[in-house]
Amino acid sequence: MKTLMRALAGETLPVPPIWMMRQAGRYLPEYRATRAQAGDFLSLCYNSDLATEVTLQPIRRFGFDAAILFADILLVPQALGADLWFVTGEGPRLSTITDQAGVDALKGKDDIHETLAPIYQTVRNLSSALPAETALIGFAGAPWTVATYMVAGRGTPDQGPAHALKDDNRPVFDALMARIEAATIEYLDMQVQAGAETVKLFDSWAGSLKGQDFQDYAVAPAARIIAELKRRHPGLPVIAFPREAGQGYVGFHAATGADCVAVDDSVSAEWVAANVQPAGCVQGNLKSSHMVTGGQALIDEVRRIRDALSGGPHIFNLGHGITPDADPDNVALMIETLRERVPA
Ligand code: CP3
Repeated sequence: MKTLMRALAGETLPVPPIWMMRQAGRYLPEYRATRAQAGDFLSLCYNSDLATEVTLQPIRRFGFDAAILFADILLVPQALGADLWFVTGEGPRLSTITDQAGVDALKGKDDIHETLAPIYQTVRNLSSALPAETALIGFAGAPWTVATYMVAGRGTPDQGPAHALKDDNRPVFDALMARIEAATIEYLDMQVQAGAETVKLFDSWAGSLKGQDFQDYAVAPAARIIAELKRRHPGLPVIAFPREAGQGYVGFHAATGADCVAVDDSVSAEWVAANVQPAGCVQGNLKSSHMVTGGQALIDEVRRIRDALSGGPHIFNLGHGITPDADPDNVALMIETLRERVPA
């Protein structure tokens, strides 16, 4: 079995499998060349041949144990009818949803596939093009994180507009969350049908949900999405990433049914080993900045995280995405260090 699938099944491996969030990205010259060929970022996402190519680039260069579909979490809002564009150097922009009329105007969950069909084609391409030992990960944004962009129309430092809608007009906010959740299930189901071997739910802004809100808007939607996907695809492993959940990571496996919980770099690997890993596979959590700075600090950190999490199932990864200013040589050094023979 592929090493990533073995770790997801709960196996403790002598060398953990490794992949990297945003492994296909601007730090790679070959990515920048293919993106230039595609035109803009969204054209690259919807061009199945070129999206397949950029997904394969980090696999060829580094031999990662998993490939992640090249797409974006904001394609779901677009498929639901939102306008979406990217402003160079700034990030995504979307038309905003602030009232019930906005929610009512969204397309239904079964009408998203027309827009998303090229993404399913990319998954099919990858499932035949990847090396036999490389696992294929599909993904979507979790409802809360996607909602933060749909309400604000852009990324925000504190997710203020989504919190305001939730607190001022909960029925409208809940209706929006329900629409996203339903679409996310259909989208991930189609990725699995096309060949994704596991799927990851990115809840990048879960850390701003506190108390009961964390239960209602991070835990509960993930639990329902995972239950429905596993009902449709028995045995499908799921990775959840409630980023910056802190204490919320404790119990997240059990509360959501996730097979693997990905952790950011605000928690130590030692704390994760004691408090999260006993419940199942964990993924993480090297600070992305080591991909910029490299050197002995990178080597020491890779060994520390590997060793701290060596007592249970672990998938090595960064705590968040690799940044455009990273040096590809540091990525190679991370992998080489991880896979070095551990002295007996
Ligand atoms: O990890 C991978 O290699 C797979 C592809 C992937 C992308 N985005 C490609 C991308 C994945 C899994 C995502 C997830 C995503 N997208 C998240 C969740 C993970 C996280 O980072 O917290 C979020 C919040 C988004 C939304 C998004 N997409 C933003 C805010 C931005 C702009 C910021 C930036 O880095 O430029 C994007 C753009 C984006 N998505 C790029 C890539 C490679 C850069 C676009 C470019 O080439 O110009």
